[in-house]
Amino acid sequence: MADSDRALYFDACATSPTDPEVIDWIAEVQRSAWGNPSSLHGHGLKAAECLERSRVQLASSLRAAANDLVFTSGATESIHLALLGRTVDRAPGRLVVSSVEHPATMAAAQQLANQGWEVVEWPVDPQGQIDLGQLDSLLDAPTEMVSLIWGQSEIGSLQPVDVVGAECRRRGITFHVDATQVVSQGRPDWSTLPADLLSASSHKCGGPKGVGFLLTRSHQRESMRPWLGGGGQEQGLRSGTQPVALIAGLTLAISKLPAWTSLCTSHSTRHLRDELLASLLEDPRLRLSGSRDQRLPHHISLLASDDAGRALSGRALVREMAQQGVAISSGSACASGHDEGSSVLRAIGLNAEASKSGIRISLGPWNNPSELPLLKERLSRSLDRLQGR
Ligand SMILES: Cc1ncc(COP(=O)(O)O)c(C=O)c1O
Repeated sequence: MADSDRALYFDACATSPTDPEVIDWIAEVQRSAWGNPSSLHGHGLKAAECLERSRVQLASSLRAAANDLVFTSGATESIHLALLGRTVDRAPGRLVVSSVEHPATMAAAQQLANQGWEVVEWPVDPQGQIDLGQLDSLLDAPTEMVSLIWGQSEIGSLQPVDVVGAECRRRGITFHVDATQVVSQGRPDWSTLPADLLSASSHKCGGPKGVGFLLTRSHQRESMRPWLGGGGQEQGLRSGTQPVALIAGLTLAISKLPAWTSLCTSHSTRHLRDELLASLLEDPRLRLSGSRDQRLPHHISLLASDDAGRALSGRALVREMAQQGVAISSGSACASGHDEGSSVLRAIGLNAEASKSGIRISLGPWNNPSELPLLKERLSRSLDRLQGR
């Protein structure tokens, strides 16, 4: 990424610039190990060796066994493999997901609903966290699987995966965690995490796009089925020739991350985020959405309003910021030119208008303190412009 591009990139949760060392490593592997890792000749063996070396190294970074890893094209595919691969050939039961899941989980859950599964949404409080008061009733029979987004992409809320995972384990319920936004903040420890399946993507943490992984446990793998037929790669769970160079890039990117601690308290990005958040909240037109403390360490989500407290459009604000050279995101989807508002903001109890007013500012290691006043000034100017000043 050129310095001019990087200067005001505050959209880490959408994607991260690829680490230059990772780019060099991908090029090197692509040049030297371009064979098909399933081929029996020298080119294939070289690619297979490189693939397996990456697998062992990545597994070790995550404190997993090499066989626990299934490489996929990204988190969307991993989530589908987790939910659909785990339930295929089984009589329909009950799946519990939070009401603030990523659309990939909602889509896979919908497929299960179409197959006769009962899909129940776990409600969240105004901070975006699941209501633990409902733990007992939601995990009662016939619940067979629970899927939770560990760090919510739009409002940053962290879910209590340890509590839910321990309870699922006690009851023999399969627990899937969508860790896509968490992994950039620290490598999860698969040896202690009480989860059966974990999905993640490489491009949120300095790696290339087009690759991700699903972490599995051996007892789950035995009863899992692929949802795509083909060459039977990845222990038969994910057919398709593995992108050896991308997997090598993913492995290097993840090896450079710190280990995950509950909230990454000593994380420098977190300190920068805290400073930025405090400064942005001085503007009465901005207020925080989601949890203040139980939040991804690199994440800020805000609701924008005018001086009279009327909701402003988050999408318009994002476009205005882009014109001023600042990359941020909004949460709401736009269908046929009509802003439908964010389903996540509605799930935390906001009304239709407020649910269109969300913006997300997310930081990465490329951001630095000198950028914070610039972002604040441009956000204030953008708010003025939306108010016709
Ligand atoms: C929490 C979460 N899950 C899943 C995904 C899907 O990831 P990918 O687009 O890499 O498949 C994303 C992407 O933004 C995400 O934030």
